Amino acid sequence: MEKKRKKKLKLKKKNFLIFLICIILIIISINYGLTILTKPNTKKNKTIQKTQKEIKLNQLENINKKLDYFNEEYIDRYLAYKKKNKNLPIKQIILDVNIGIDNDYYTHTKKTKNLNKSFILVNKYYYLPSEYIPNNLEKIDEKYARAGMRLVNYAKEAFEKLAEDAKKEDLSIIIMSSYRSYQYQLNLYNRYKNEDGIKKADTYSARAGYSEHQTGLAFDVYNDKEDYTNFDKTKEFIWMQKNAYKYGFILRFPEDKVKQTGYEYEPWHYRYVGKEIASYIHKHKICFEEYYVQKIEKT
Ligand code: DAL
Ligand code: ZN
Repeated sequence: MEKKRKKKLKLKKKNFLIFLICIILIIISINYGLTILTKPNTKKNKTIQKTQKEIKLNQLENINKKLDYFNEEYIDRYLAYKKKNKNLPIKQIILDVNIGIDNDYYTHTKKTKNLNKSFILVNKYYYLPSEYIPNNLEKIDEKYARAGMRLVNYAKEAFEKLAEDAKKEDLSIIIMSSYRSYQYQLNLYNRYKNEDGIKKADTYSARAGYSEHQTGLAFDVYNDKEDYTNFDKTKEFIWMQKNAYKYGFILRFPEDKVKQTGYEYEPWHYRYVGKEIASYIHKHKICFEEYYVQKIEKT
């Protein structure tokens, strides 16, 4: 009888052990299953990401293969800008976003690089330090400028040569505003702001620190007869259109580039960038911002 009881107990123990092992096995399987389900499948994820990128690049006409200034970090910005500007050619979308105009003017601003270089960029996204005064400012010959006007020496020499050559053709090209200090620009902008309000003033005047007049490389001209706002109605303007680039100057705010430059057309405002850059800009009918993002930014 005792033997039978012992056998029964042993059987119970055995069954319990089997039960326990089964439970453990079930728990392990569930855990394993969950791990498989929740574990990120990196290989699969990478493929998905790659496909998504390919789709986006495809929407951008795979222009990345043609433009070395295409910036992969901006893919989503390019697509958002494209959505808002359906009729723009894809190359212009890339240029505009690289310039930054998908962001409002005076937002996302950065201190500009290349201080004291002829290819410095100053606009509504790139500013100069308030204490910045360019090296080698020199007075312009008063035959070609209002008294006391100054430019950086190499820009001054190039301009005097230009004005002298124009004079030989009986044309008068006179500088009425050139280098302006931070403080001068601050007073000027505040005056315009008080007269016209911020929105209007921002279309034609730079805020202090954001004016390339502070670089000593930019200036405004007139012909000594007409008001400067009518400069594009003069023979002098036609001459400048044809010849300014040969001396290293560009029309800085062209009529068809208001969005890119951030300013209304200013036929009187010129900027020294050097002969090579000026010739390229003239030939390709682009503005300095477009040149900058294509040729300078990445270097
Ligand atoms: N008028 C130009 C944009 C300036 O104020 O610098
Ligand atoms: Zn100007």
